[in-house]
Parts: sequence; C-alpha cells; structure tokens
Amino acid sequence: MAIHESNPPALLGSAAARRDFCLGVLATGLALASHACGGGSAAEPMAGPAPTLPITTTDTKAGLLATPDGTTRDYRNQGSFFLVKDATGIYAITAICTHLGCTVGVPVSGHFLCPCHGSQYDLGGANLVGPAVLPLAHLDVSEATPGGFLIVNPARPVAAAARLS
Ligand code: FES
Repeated sequence: MAIHESNPPALLGSAAARRDFCLGVLATGLALASHACGGGSAAEPMAGPAPTLPITTTDTKAGLLATPDGTTRDYRNQGSFFLVKDATGIYAITAICTHLGCTVGVPVSGHFLCPCHGSQYDLGGANLVGPAVLPLAHLDVSEATPGGFLIVNPARPVAAAARLS
C-alpha cells in the first residue's frame, strides 16, 4: 500500500495544495478500510445472507446412502450448502466460509477451498488452513416424508457428528 507523504494543510498555502492533501488522506483511508475488510472486491463470490427457510433437495436418503463415501451434492445455488455422504451416513454442511462469508468451492481431493483468501476445510468441515479459524457449520437434515426428498434447515445448526442414516 502506498503511503502518501503530505504536509498538513496549515503549512500549505494554496487551495490546490490543500485539495491534494485531502485527496491523499481520503485515498489512504479508503485503502486502509478496504484492507481491514479483507481486501475483497466485488468480483469475489460472497454468499449473501444465509437462507433461513428449510430447503427441499432433490436427493433421497436411500439414494444418497447408496452412493460411495465422499459423495457430495452441490446445493450452493439453492441454499448455500452441500449434502455429503460418508461411512456413517448423510450430513448437510454450509458452503459459507467462516472467515468473511465467501462461498467455498466444490470439494477437490476431499477439501473445500475458499477462493477469497485460501481457507481450506476437510470434508467434515474442520478448518485445516486459515485465515478461517472456525469449522464449517453442519445443518439439520431430515426426510420430508419417509422415503421422500431430504430437507435441509439452514437456520438449524447441528453437531458435526450428527448423521442421517
Ligand atoms: S472468506 Fe476469507 S478465506 Fe473464505
């Protein structure tokens, strides 16, 4: 970040010098504010407000349990979460990074990667690489009706060990 060297306005004689001083102070302030907010830009994939209503997926418990361990279903567009199947069952996990709220990518080699500042999480949501210091939240998942589509409630976090099986 460039630091502007300027004389205080009281030592500056002309209006142009005072204007330049003020513009320098303003530019420095904006740069500091941007840096303090994570250095982000409008192009970064921010998740927006977390959904609060239950979301019906197009997956069923039986169908997802029949898939290999590590299978993920991407529901970022509907509700900023993933459904994951592991050896003990099904869970829903938020796609909202705990650092500054960007949306993490689909898992690659068993890791969720946040494109904004590089945080990484394992498939269970544990944070492996910062700057994020908290894990991804697990969300309540249930069947709409026995054998029906799975419903995820983004407003209801659950323990990381919770599984639908
Ligand atoms: S928002 Fe900063 S690492 Fe995800």
